Amino acid sequence: MRTADKAAALSAAGVEIAAGNGNSRTDVAAALKGVDRAVLIYPNGEQQLELAKLFVDQAAAAGVKDLVQLSSPEALEHMKIPVHQTHYKSEQHIKQSGLAWTMVRPNFFMQNFLANAHTIKTEGKFYLPMGDGRAAMTDTRDAAAVIAQVLTTPGHQGKSYDFTGPAVLTFTEVAAIFSKVLQKPVTYVNQDADSYKAYLGQFLKSTWHNDAVCEIFGEIRRGYFMPANDNFKQLMGREPTSFEQFVADHRAVFT
Ligand SMILES: NC(=O)c1ccc[n+]([C@@H]2O[C@H](COP(=O)([O-])OP(=O)(O)OC[C@H]3O[C@@H](n4cnc5c(N)ncnc54)[C@H](OP(=O)(O)O)[C@@H]3O)[C@@H](O)[C@H]2O)c1
Repeated sequence: MRTADKAAALSAAGVEIAAGNGNSRTDVAAALKGVDRAVLIYPNGEQQLELAKLFVDQAAAAGVKDLVQLSSPEALEHMKIPVHQTHYKSEQHIKQSGLAWTMVRPNFFMQNFLANAHTIKTEGKFYLPMGDGRAAMTDTRDAAAVIAQVLTTPGHQGKSYDFTGPAVLTFTEVAAIFSKVLQKPVTYVNQDADSYKAYLGQFLKSTWHNDAVCEIFGEIRRGYFMPANDNFKQLMGREPTSFEQFVADHRAVFT
């Protein structure tokens, strides 16, 4: 993170914070001094690959022993959407760096729906351009649990963990779960792609980011989805969080 104020809760819990800009070699080198294990998480953006490469190179120079990247299951050479290519190229850079690595690759986040909380709350609707598409959605808390597991137990070096939530859901099924758990009708509005892009553009100021997100959603609309797998259970010894549980745990945000 660039400023320590966002990490006040962590700081209060006794975590040592090293704030700085990922585009500054000096800041990154200072943050990595004396670090054995590092986790690389950058938000999607045009600079993401450049920042990731800088971090990896500095990690190698600092003598970091294990590097974990939060990536995605679509980080594949043939997946040409910019977000997927960024993760793919970042993974390749890590694999060629000489560092021991682990890739944590969760599928579509349930928490993406927090961006729809306002209309769920005020209109009982959420607007997305997904058509009849579907996704085996993952709770970010499960992704965090996997990262913690990788950092604190042996045997993960050189492994890529692709994992999903428990069920492949259409967005109509997601609406039904919201309705059941919140005990009020919630409807999925299949918004046309151009209107959605214009709407999202009010919040995402980078055209690169807006285009990239809309391309991912277009991929889902055209029928791409990752089947649910049991990799999370194999690794963690418990079921992944259900969409019902995600909604229940965030009830206050949606009502
Ligand atoms: N959404 C999904 O469905 C999904 C699924 C699988 C994987 N992913 C991946 O998850 C990753 C995380 O995305 P996110 O949107 O959740 O990220 P985020 O939380 O918005 O950002 C992660 C961190 O990066 C920091 N950061 C950003 N730019 C920085 C810079 N120049 N210098 C230093 N720190 C900087 C941010 O700190 P500050 O901004 O506070 O400085 C923040 O702490 C992405 O790579 C995405 O592809 C997402």
